[in-house]
Amino acid sequence: MSDFSLEAIDVGKAYQEGSGDALHVLSDINLHLHHGETVAIIGSSGSGKTTLLNTLGGLDEPTTGKVLLNGDDIAKHSEKTRCTIRNKHLGFIYQFHHLLPEFTALENVAMPLLIGGVSPEIASQRSEAILDEVGLSQRLHHKPSELSGGERQRAAIARALIHRPDCVLADEPTGNLDRKNAEQAIELIVQLNQSYNTALVIVTHDLHIAERMSRIYTLEDGILAPH
Ligand SMILES: Nc1ncnc2c1ncn2[C@@H]1O[C@H](COP(=O)(O)OP(=O)(O)OP(=O)(O)O)[C@@H](O)[C@H]1O
Ligand SMILES: [Mg+2]
Repeated sequence: MSDFSLEAIDVGKAYQEGSGDALHVLSDINLHLHHGETVAIIGSSGSGKTTLLNTLGGLDEPTTGKVLLNGDDIAKHSEKTRCTIRNKHLGFIYQFHHLLPEFTALENVAMPLLIGGVSPEIASQRSEAILDEVGLSQRLHHKPSELSGGERQRAAIARALIHRPDCVLADEPTGNLDRKNAEQAIELIVQLNQSYNTALVIVTHDLHIAERMSRIYTLEDGILAPH
């Protein structure tokens, strides 16, 4: 097994729009994340934070350089295999919960396990256990519209970590929450990250939250530098 959970090696990303000049968003980004390590990325709006997370998560391909997940170059695989790799090894948390509206909290959280081939009984048991950990044992059968904003985000955190991914990529996961809920959500992410030895890359505008991570980087003019 690789020493690193996730690595970006000389990653560059440019968007080509029509025949005009390409928009260079990321240049020569290098990031090495050990198993269980936590990193915060801060930077102004439009600096490329989401682009970087999407590239790290194999949702977007780097224009130059490569991204290694457990030592494996994700871009080398077919889209179908990339999907399987993402589902098995990564967890995503977004600013808005992205839970499926027609499913209950329990069903939403069980989804990554079911997609990964775990039996419905085991998936249900494990989902109940993690929903209990995030304080939602009384909300298992509520649909997202029947949950508060903080509860939805806690369900989304449970869904991102249920399959014990190697790395969680979180894009402004507390951006939509008030201070109290934001702190509760970050507390849960950090707690689950420690107990599962999951690496974490978190994009945030909130320096208070960034300071909970072991390293902080700033993304500016396409360059990732220690804060
Ligand atoms: N698919 C795309 N095609 C072309 N340009 C894009 C695309 N996605 C993003 N961009 C541009 O790349 C730059 C970086 O966008 P990105 O979404 O990564 O910024 P961000 O740091 O996440 O900003 P915010 O804090 O507002 O979420 C922006 O100038 C944006 O307009
Ligand atoms: Mg963004």
